[in-house]
Amino acid sequence: MKEIKITDTIKYIGANDKTLDLFESQYVIPNGVSYNSYVILDEKVTVMDTVDARATEEWLANLENVLDGRTVDYLVVSHMEPDHAANVQRLIEKYPNMQVVGNVKTFNMISQFFAVDLEGKKVVVKEGDTLNIGSHTLQFFMAPMVHWPEVMVTYEQSEKVLFSADGFGKFGALDVEDEWTCEARRYYFNIVGKYGVQVQNLLKKAATLDIQIICPLHGPVLKEDLAYYIEKYNIWSSYNPEDEGVLVVYASIHGNTGTAAKKMAEILREKGAKEVVVMDLARDDMSEAIEEAFRYDKLVVASATYDNGVFPCMEDFLAHLKAKNYQKRKVALIENGSWAPTAAKQMKAVFEGMKAVEICDSVVTIKSVMNEDNIRSMEKAADELMV
Ligand code: FEO
Repeated sequence: MKEIKITDTIKYIGANDKTLDLFESQYVIPNGVSYNSYVILDEKVTVMDTVDARATEEWLANLENVLDGRTVDYLVVSHMEPDHAANVQRLIEKYPNMQVVGNVKTFNMISQFFAVDLEGKKVVVKEGDTLNIGSHTLQFFMAPMVHWPEVMVTYEQSEKVLFSADGFGKFGALDVEDEWTCEARRYYFNIVGKYGVQVQNLLKKAATLDIQIICPLHGPVLKEDLAYYIEKYNIWSSYNPEDEGVLVVYASIHGNTGTAAKKMAEILREKGAKEVVVMDLARDDMSEAIEEAFRYDKLVVASATYDNGVFPCMEDFLAHLKAKNYQKRKVALIENGSWAPTAAKQMKAVFEGMKAVEICDSVVTIKSVMNEDNIRSMEKAADELMV
């Protein structure tokens, strides 16, 4: 891999993975993903996290190359999820004099994942503690539930670098050119989205630090225009819409509900909606649909009735929205059913269980195939949604 320059003393030793089928067994990653790991070369050599088991050999080779014959004094474990911590035991065994730096929860998890004796090798840190490794000083800040309970971030004081764990992470290997925001947003909402409050807490701590470089555990090292990324995280974690627009999602069995959803999108565009995105939940990527739902301020859900319930892909979409704490949005409902349409009632019940979701009174009920009456109902629902 082309060298990723951070500073003269902080080196990248992570790896790209372009062959993994699904990240966390559920997210497509068309451009792969990177497992980031770093080394700080100082009087005490410090490794910042390990990598996924799929990248062990490449990572160890990168580490040895950077060490140039030196040994490792400290391993800082920011996050115990196996995409970062799979090699904790391997590193402990390779460098028997190495100390492992983590918090109480980190060490509880290490003993769950690995049968390893850490007697005399533990440096247990808590909020605000520092560790001097020479000219660098590491300061630790707890970031529980961003994305697991043991997560902590590390601020290196001399070079003003924040090692941000999963925060500011992004899908995509580092040798693929793609825009940060789209894949970082999909990563954020699907992986960390449920924990907006905790991300806000972390941002408040970060605001007290002079940060020049952000080193996340996935995606590119961020060195410029950090205010842009921090502002995106502020919007996302506060659950405020990022853009004005409407996501229209449909769950259609034979295409008739889909036709109605597309008609609704056309009506919304005619009525001046800034941006209208239409997605077929049976075929489009679920994580993209979740991302778009959080991006825009309005949502239209159109579902066929199925087994006296909501068609499964819509049910799945709504369950994801609820799990990720969807809130502060306006929603319109379209249902279809050839004999007993009930989808709208059930979708409405899900949204009623969410915080600050305004549901339009005008519900569009289609019986099999959209007709002129339905189009008039859609006009009414669109007017209500656009207010
Ligand atoms: Fe990238 Fe939560 O692990």
